[in-house]
Amino acid sequence: MNKKMIAFGWVLVCALSLLTPSFAVAETTVLVTGSNRGLGYEFTRQYAERGYNIIATARKPEKAEALQALAAENPNIIIEKLDVTDLAAIDALADKYTDQPIDILINNAGVTGDPFKTQMLGKIDYSIFDLVMHVNVMGPLKIAEAFLSNVEVSEQKKIISVSSSMGSISKTFGTGYFYRSSKAALNMTMATLAKEVKSKGIVIGLVNPGPTATDMMKNFSGASLRDPVEATTDMIRNIDNLTIETTGAFLQYDGSTLPW
Ligand SMILES: NC(=O)c1ccc[n+]([C@@H]2O[C@H](COP(=O)([O-])OP(=O)(O)OC[C@H]3O[C@@H](n4cnc5c(N)ncnc54)[C@H](OP(=O)(O)O)[C@@H]3O)[C@@H](O)[C@H]2O)c1
Repeated sequence: MNKKMIAFGWVLVCALSLLTPSFAVAETTVLVTGSNRGLGYEFTRQYAERGYNIIATARKPEKAEALQALAAENPNIIIEKLDVTDLAAIDALADKYTDQPIDILINNAGVTGDPFKTQMLGKIDYSIFDLVMHVNVMGPLKIAEAFLSNVEVSEQKKIISVSSSMGSISKTFGTGYFYRSSKAALNMTMATLAKEVKSKGIVIGLVNPGPTATDMMKNFSGASLRDPVEATTDMIRNIDNLTIETTGAFLQYDGSTLPW
């Protein structure tokens, strides 16, 4: 299939999906943000392999060729357009799925803002601060808030955010001011949410994949990077193991607890 055909197919899918979305028969539903590449794509692929329904959101679905190909093979994947900084779009998507229980909500979309170029002391580019905070902190909170009732009526009731050891204050070694701050803020946001929704039985989790070979890390040469498949399998295992007793946990990929 050439790119024009894929784009046309996507426009058709978009038009049809304005109608009420409906899945096949799976009982478990997952929503993933930033599902077009990297860890988000891998979450989508691995959960689809389990036979779960996936609401796979992406900022530019028309360009998400790998995700479209995956969805073409898996009727349980519905692709939805979503920029996590667009609060009105988040509300509109939540309205569209108002009757759909969502078992696992995964706040995966994230940006670093390119720390080595923009976040080195002496040459910090303050113009990117808002973007990093909007994508990594405000988006996840708004998505959790907008879809809270979908999660509450589900079986598993889990809201998961992909954090980073870069947000661990006690492990910092310098540089990456905005990215580190955003993940520390994400941690605080989700720890606060965990307290607030525990009485509803909703489980909150923060998972760290470890340094992983995705586009995000393409400028970090020399680092020893993890395989995205393995990193995602580890996060999914940790998500499976989370319970209301461990809600609010900040989990390293090996299942141990990371320090704040
Ligand atoms: N890779 C690592 O080493 C590592 C380590 C620790 C934590 N993490 C975290 O893991 C998560 C996934 O990272 P990754 O490694 O898979 O990175 P990636 O390959 O760069 O993918 C980032 C994803 O986020 C999406 N995204 C960015 N801005 C968005 C927005 N405004 N709205 C919606 N989607 C947006 C991107 O969509 P577009 O294609 O449209 O840009 C892409 O799908 C992030 O939260 C990251 O901080 C990664």
